[in-house]
Amino acid sequence: MTPSSSTATATATPAFATKRVLVTGGNSGIGYAIAEKFLQEGATVAITGRREDKNKETVDQLNKGAVGSARALYITSDLSKEDQIEVTAKKAVELLGGLDILVHNAGVGGFAAVDQAASAYAAIMDTNLRAPILLTSYLVPELRKSAKDGHHPSIIFISSIVTAIHAKNFGIYSASKAGLTHYAKTAAYELTADGVRVNIVSPGPTRTPIFSASSGANAEKAKEMFDEIAAKSPVGRIGEPSEIADSVLFLASEKALYLTGSDLFIDGGYSLVSA
Ligand SMILES: NC(=O)c1ccc[n+]([C@@H]2O[C@H](COP(=O)([O-])OP(=O)(O)OC[C@H]3O[C@@H](n4cnc5c(N)ncnc54)[C@H](OP(=O)(O)O)[C@@H]3O)[C@@H](O)[C@H]2O)c1
Repeated sequence: MTPSSSTATATATPAFATKRVLVTGGNSGIGYAIAEKFLQEGATVAITGRREDKNKETVDQLNKGAVGSARALYITSDLSKEDQIEVTAKKAVELLGGLDILVHNAGVGGFAAVDQAASAYAAIMDTNLRAPILLTSYLVPELRKSAKDGHHPSIIFISSIVTAIHAKNFGIYSASKAGLTHYAKTAAYELTADGVRVNIVSPGPTRTPIFSASSGANAEKAKEMFDEIAAKSPVGRIGEPSEIADSVLFLASEKALYLTGSDLFIDGGYSLVSA
């Protein structure tokens, strides 16, 4: 044996090398962190979002951190429009050459009191509930194919701890996420025997632009909201997008092959004190 063979450093294969991943709403917040981590682990990732410029800029940024043959791609589409959902599914399969991991992350917040449903209902439900349900149905054949090829496919739904707590003015948003969680569990029941695992990640308050976007708050007001939440939380802070992303990667990984139909609350204990 030559000394060089015993001293050579083994290069580990990235955990998601060759995996094809679709992350809806990957140009901001939690979706961006999910896409970034998959790319750092060697996956090819297509993100979606409504804003073409933001998508392009995001993909340029993401590709700087890509490992090995990993690559970020984007699809500009509005998933609140029913006819754009199937187009998005087709484009994703075309761009990625198939699909192994589907992350339903795109979502909107929105405060609406019980007597304001007429103006808020469609805006929230169409994006948070109809889009992931229809997108799943269009993409299931690709995931079954991935299972047959031995790629251990999975779907991860980003829901929310609002499925378990009650907050004023959150009725429609909470209903959209409760519906999503229930749908995801049924999908897990139906699809697991085909080799497609389905899991849910339910974040607690996480530092992303969704708060200011849904409340119209400026940065100062958003910080006030974060501070109030942090004061109530057992861990004394709000979550960071990367902490949500870590759990998504775990659920999609081969370390979680026995996990399906699970709903992981990642909230620093916030749901324990805010039921
Ligand atoms: N942050 C939290 O505290 C928290 C807590 C629990 C659950 N969540 C959930 O986590 C997910 C990500 O939220 P975030 O906090 O990261 O918010 P964010 O930073 O505002 O990101 C939302 C993403 O969704 C995309 N999006 C919104 N509407 C869309 C549509 N109609 N079609 C396609 N893409 C759309 C946005 O891109 P464009 O604007 O370019 O379309 C953006 O990429 C959401 O499902 C949210 O409900 C967040």
